[in-house]
Amino acid sequence: MKHIVRYLAIVIAGVSISVSCLAMQKDEVTLKDAFKDKFHIGVAVNIWQDNGRDEKGAQVIKDQFDAIVPENCMKSENIQPQEGKFTFDDADMFVKFGEKNKKFITGHTLIWHSQAPRWFFVDTDGKEVSREVLIERMKSHIQTLVGRYKGRVKGWDVVNEAIEDDGSFRKSPFYKIIGEDFIKLAFQFAHDADPDAELYYNDYSMSNPKKREAVINMVKKLKAEGIKIDGVGMQGHIGMDYPELDEFEKSIVDYGATGAKVMITELDLSALPTPKGRRGANISDITAYRDSLNPYKTELPDSARIVWENRYMDFFKMFLKHKDIISRVTLWGVSDKGSWKNNFPIRGRTDYPLFFDRNDEAKPIVQRLIDEAMKN
Ligand code: GLA
Repeated sequence: MKHIVRYLAIVIAGVSISVSCLAMQKDEVTLKDAFKDKFHIGVAVNIWQDNGRDEKGAQVIKDQFDAIVPENCMKSENIQPQEGKFTFDDADMFVKFGEKNKKFITGHTLIWHSQAPRWFFVDTDGKEVSREVLIERMKSHIQTLVGRYKGRVKGWDVVNEAIEDDGSFRKSPFYKIIGEDFIKLAFQFAHDADPDAELYYNDYSMSNPKKREAVINMVKKLKAEGIKIDGVGMQGHIGMDYPELDEFEKSIVDYGATGAKVMITELDLSALPTPKGRRGANISDITAYRDSLNPYKTELPDSARIVWENRYMDFFKMFLKHKDIISRVTLWGVSDKGSWKNNFPIRGRTDYPLFFDRNDEAKPIVQRLIDEAMKN
């Protein structure tokens, strides 16, 4: 009898401890609570977070973020690997995950020269297609994708990375075959497929003055032509020594002055040294591995972590200052273990660019950000 009483007491104590832990967890302010009245705080989701293989990562997304974007599954090489053969499974799962967890869902990305299948630009003999054919392919791709998720995906990155750092148009197959009108057409096709969806232009190095000027001119021109463009996405793959905070701020203000919403769409702050001449996110530029550029192979020492945190805080203080212009800040991934930055611009480094560590545990920056947002 004594044993049973003791056993019951232990069970009851255990239950009450877990109930109080749960209550604590429930009361804890999360990122999405803290930023609720400021801007969406979003995250890029990978398929293993919505297909059940990464439950811990999925839980972080559910608890901490209120907006999601797919890291890869909506890119053209994944969703239309062959002409007319759409593979919607992963994208369907992503959208369902977002709806079930009440997230603001953004689609990424409709027209981009990279991660695009080769068939898009050539005929069956491998010859470059005509302007008319490419326009037709763009139209069918955009309308199929946007149409399928009409009313569910609330915003689309319509065109990604069409402008070079010097302000000229990127000489992508879209530009070479169609001319600069491909941008206008892409927005028009997306608008026709879902008139209520928000439509964005998204690019990297957006604080570069020449690029800023070119993007502003493009947005103004599109608007003058009656094309619906709702926002400008600044990718935000930043480092410890680039970009300059005040140039980034100037871009936010100037893009905002066009009437467009501004989004920081792909934020990650590399804690590693920047290889010379390697900035932004030009996928084709992967350089050779160099040991000196991979200094924190097992952990980020506190001294380096604090400098990294302070830089993130400087950016977020600035974002909060411009919360009237900024509609969303999205992290490019949940935790360090899955970040593309471990392999870019050099393969096989150990980087620490995100808010959650390799075990999906919140880093100290999370609480600092929550406190900062609650002050504002
Ligand atoms: C660009 C793209 C993203 C992603 C990153 C690298 O920024 O817009 O979709 O591919 O490069 O991961």
